[in-house]
Amino acid sequence: MLPIVVAILASCSAEALPEVDPLMIVPKPVRLESSGGTFPLADGVTLFFSPGDGDLLNVAKRLQEYLASAGAKVSLRATSDTEPPARNILLTTHGADPSLGDEGYEMIIEPDRVLLRAPSATGLFWGTQTIRQMLLASDGRTLPCSRIWDKPRFQWRGSLLDCCRHFMTKDYVKRYIDLLALHKLNVFHWHLTEDQGWRIEIERYPELTRIGAWRGDGANRHEGFYTQREVREIVEYAAQRHVMVVPEIEMPGHSMAALACYPELSCTGGPFVVPTQWGVFADVYCAGNDQVFEFLENVLREVVQIFPAPYVHIGGDEVPKTRWQKCPKCQERMRNEGLKDEHELQSYFIRRAERMLAGLNRKLIGWDEILEGGLAPNATVQSWRGMEGAVAAAKAGHDVIVSPTTHCYLDYGHDRTSLQQAYSFEPIPPDLTPEEAKHVLGGEGNIWTEHAPQEAVDERVYPRLSALAEVFWSPKELKDWQDFTTRMGAHYHRLDRMGVKYYLEPPRFLTDDEVFTDSIAVEIEPSVHGGTIRYSLQSDSVLPDASRYREPIVITETTTVAAVTDTPSGRVSPTAVRTFRKETLRDPDAGARDAPGLQVSYYEGQWTSVPSVSSETPLAHGIVPDVDLSFAKRDHDFFLSFDGYLTVPEDGVYTFYLTSDDGGVLWFGDRLLVNNDGLHPARTATGSITLRAGRHSITIGYVQAGGAMVLELEYKGPGIPRQRIPAKAYSHLVP
Ligand code: ACM
Ligand code: ZN
Repeated sequence: MLPIVVAILASCSAEALPEVDPLMIVPKPVRLESSGGTFPLADGVTLFFSPGDGDLLNVAKRLQEYLASAGAKVSLRATSDTEPPARNILLTTHGADPSLGDEGYEMIIEPDRVLLRAPSATGLFWGTQTIRQMLLASDGRTLPCSRIWDKPRFQWRGSLLDCCRHFMTKDYVKRYIDLLALHKLNVFHWHLTEDQGWRIEIERYPELTRIGAWRGDGANRHEGFYTQREVREIVEYAAQRHVMVVPEIEMPGHSMAALACYPELSCTGGPFVVPTQWGVFADVYCAGNDQVFEFLENVLREVVQIFPAPYVHIGGDEVPKTRWQKCPKCQERMRNEGLKDEHELQSYFIRRAERMLAGLNRKLIGWDEILEGGLAPNATVQSWRGMEGAVAAAKAGHDVIVSPTTHCYLDYGHDRTSLQQAYSFEPIPPDLTPEEAKHVLGGEGNIWTEHAPQEAVDERVYPRLSALAEVFWSPKELKDWQDFTTRMGAHYHRLDRMGVKYYLEPPRFLTDDEVFTDSIAVEIEPSVHGGTIRYSLQSDSVLPDASRYREPIVITETTTVAAVTDTPSGRVSPTAVRTFRKETLRDPDAGARDAPGLQVSYYEGQWTSVPSVSSETPLAHGIVPDVDLSFAKRDHDFFLSFDGYLTVPEDGVYTFYLTSDDGGVLWFGDRLLVNNDGLHPARTATGSITLRAGRHSITIGYVQAGGAMVLELEYKGPGIPRQRIPAKAYSHLVP
């Protein structure tokens, strides 16, 4: 018998969980101390809760469900006790620390009791999500003894799901909301109308869903909408998870689906079809036609009856003005209202929408384009084209929600917006005073779905939304990328158990240098904590029997290294590929006399990348001690070129890090070493080169269009840790 028993045990343990720590919570709690030991969730545990509060009973029911799906049956019982009876769990608002605020909670888990306490049912609910995360990262038989005190940094922690470009089923939407709750995200921004589809039933205008809810024909046909009954069901489901649903009804642009049904609401009269392609369309609601406002008011009247949230998002983004410029009604409206251009007409439209919503007891949110032509008096602005809109609106005293494309657009590819990039997001722009910063309610991670049908949404959204959840919830001081990736080791396991098909990043090369003279040790880290790496030095694909990475790989000839991560749950990441080049040392420039500082030339003009201006006379030139912006004469539309020498002390590999906003490039002689060109927010690009000790001729180009300006050059070399290049290393030729 014995061997069989052993075999069974072995097969059980093969299926058992990988070792993960259930206290690795995402988003990270404000304070969490492990006290060792566990609270057993044996059958017979009772879940007590304070009586008389329906919301609290609902929270208790949710926790009961989480415990049940982990295999622990607990019964519910109301009690006015303020301490849990031995061997039981208590959820209570009595005696809670008032500084926890509207959403905070505290929890004490001891071997013989669990106390979850918060001033509000919402705080208790977030506490149950912490317990749920513990259960999902363990065998569900115990809870780890600990003390937790936790509350969010921001009150608005959201995610937009575009259900228009592709329709998402009711069940998928519910699951999406449930995953928001698991991450303590509390706003579901539901994008319900678009050019490519109108997805919410409006009883007064049945054509909107009869015609407007499908796009394309034949095999390309795509359709779907939510009845009001289904929407109510989803809103109720979200409310039970303390998630507010904010509907977005787009106007005046992104409205082709509605115009296909009611072409008389356009400037030209149509006819139109629901577009099969995405884009920004010229045809928008006519701003000169009162029927349009009547239509929108009737739509909004039905919308607010279904959505109890105090906000309605009216879009307002990407509104071409071409039709309005040619439309007699729009032009008449501008004359009658004294509007000087079509931007003011857009502002008129949004102000009118705001008055309509105020009459329906709702507040307006719009994308940052609603700043153009003047902001409606009480509007909340959602900044997406960078953070400039957030800064302008907050300075004008308006509330803002931040979701810039650079960090928060989850439809962008993972190579463009990495997990680390999303995690690095800071929602408070540095240009705001502490008083102005109070207007930043929080942020959202957005998924637009033209290229993401329902089955592809998980892979875009996760794990980047897990990172943003931490950005929006956890204190800024606790932000730590290494710590986050370690906790994600446990969190991937939770996502696996929830069936989330998240994106797995390729492994990361920790070796910055890409060149070497004799040999290089290539160090690689798995993208998932607890994962392992396989690699190949022969081809770009890594076969199942490829070598297991155990220590840095030493290479002595130019080699391409390809590597994948295998996760503890058996998934395989995409392949990371890097080529390491063997080079001979570059000789220094000999001869000529030099003096400290670099030659700098300054030009003005509008460039989108570093120009070639060698034949033009600069507006100003001189010598500067350092690579910085001290020589710029204004904060936009200029180009700076720095020329001279860099002296390096020793033979070896040097890596350069050029951080710029907008474009920057670094040349060694005629070799382009670092290319960080183009218009973009501050970001760092790197390049490595092998140099002989001495003086090397360099050129740095920097172009600034508008917005923030940043230029910084760092290096690392033999015996030199990464640092800003000291001014004494620079010189220039003297004739
Ligand atoms: C947007 O991405 N057009 C708000
Ligand atoms: Zn018009």
